[in-house]
Amino acid sequence: MGRQVLVTGGTGYIGSHTVVELQAVGFDVVIIDDLSNSSADVVDNIEKISGIRPAFEEFNLLDLAKLEAFFEKYSRIEAIIHFAAFKAVGESVAKPLSYYRNNLVSLMNILDCMSKYKISNLVFSSSCTVYGQPDQLPVTENTPKKDAESPYGNTKAISEEILRDVVKVNNALKVIALRYFNPIGAHPTSLIGELPRGVPNNLVPFITQTAAGIRQQLSVFGNDYNTEDGSCIRDYINVVDLAKAHVIAIDRLINNTNDDRHEFFNVGTGYGASVLEIVNTFEEATGVKVNYKIVDRRPGDVEKIYADTTIANTVLGWKAETSLSDTLLSAWNWEKRLRNIG
Ligand code: UFG
Repeated sequence: MGRQVLVTGGTGYIGSHTVVELQAVGFDVVIIDDLSNSSADVVDNIEKISGIRPAFEEFNLLDLAKLEAFFEKYSRIEAIIHFAAFKAVGESVAKPLSYYRNNLVSLMNILDCMSKYKISNLVFSSSCTVYGQPDQLPVTENTPKKDAESPYGNTKAISEEILRDVVKVNNALKVIALRYFNPIGAHPTSLIGELPRGVPNNLVPFITQTAAGIRQQLSVFGNDYNTEDGSCIRDYINVVDLAKAHVIAIDRLINNTNDDRHEFFNVGTGYGASVLEIVNTFEEATGVKVNYKIVDRRPGDVEKIYADTTIANTVLGWKAETSLSDTLLSAWNWEKRLRNIG
């Protein structure tokens, strides 16, 4: 039997891809998810890809009694990847308390249980949002953090601080925080991918829905930034490549190859692409035109950010592999499967 890993938020977008990659190298994966932003079908589709059905427990991590009962039941868990969190920037501005409660208390409950049930290894989903608009590019892990632009972003910054403080007193605890840049794309089988509820906030789901005719027009938020074509720059990372970084991080923790007990890694490609470049690359990769217009800037957007991935490449031994073009094509194939487009 493989070593057991808990994936919270394992039916979500990044979580589901990570479950598949963990299973591919022999881990026995258990998922906790409350399905607040995902669907139980994802478990079936994970099984279709890997041939293995992960154990799945449906509950909210704010329920400490349920979480304790869970750890009593699954006593072989050696490591946890904690994805489960709310993640919509705009919604977090409207509902700050809901974001702080959900994202912070669930992390604290996990940490309490790790101490109580003697589980040492944690991979935490962090975000490049902790850097804000950095003064220097690309950003390294040591680039000073800036005040968060949103309650959502602040939950990631505070979570990193909580982890820093808890590692100091729980001497058994080892944490790797992965700071994701912009995850996009879908599994090559098109069986799992991103499932935005309602109107997508993120660029690539909006592009694929526009290409599929569900949205009339993509709004490109601003072309007067200080960038080559005037649109914002981000580091778009393929979701399967990102999932693989978690497997490497888990191996690193379990095999004790981490140098200190609290490490951070930028998980990006190192390449900054503009919004217009994403639209053009999507059109070239898929042969489908995207109807778009330039509109005003979106409040709160940073102008440009992309990763220095040297530490992830050398210390973690992970590197992004998939081209932007293949990644955008995978996003389109996923959208086509969802909408039954031939
Ligand atoms: N954009 C558009 N039109 C859209 C949607 C997005 O032009 O309809 C632009 C944005 O202005 C931005 C770029 O596309 O320049 C990327 O926007 P996303 O919303 O896809 O991603 P963000 O970089 O804004 O947000 C991501 C994560 C957040 C995280 C943030 C940290 O989705 O969870 O990075 O910077 F907080």
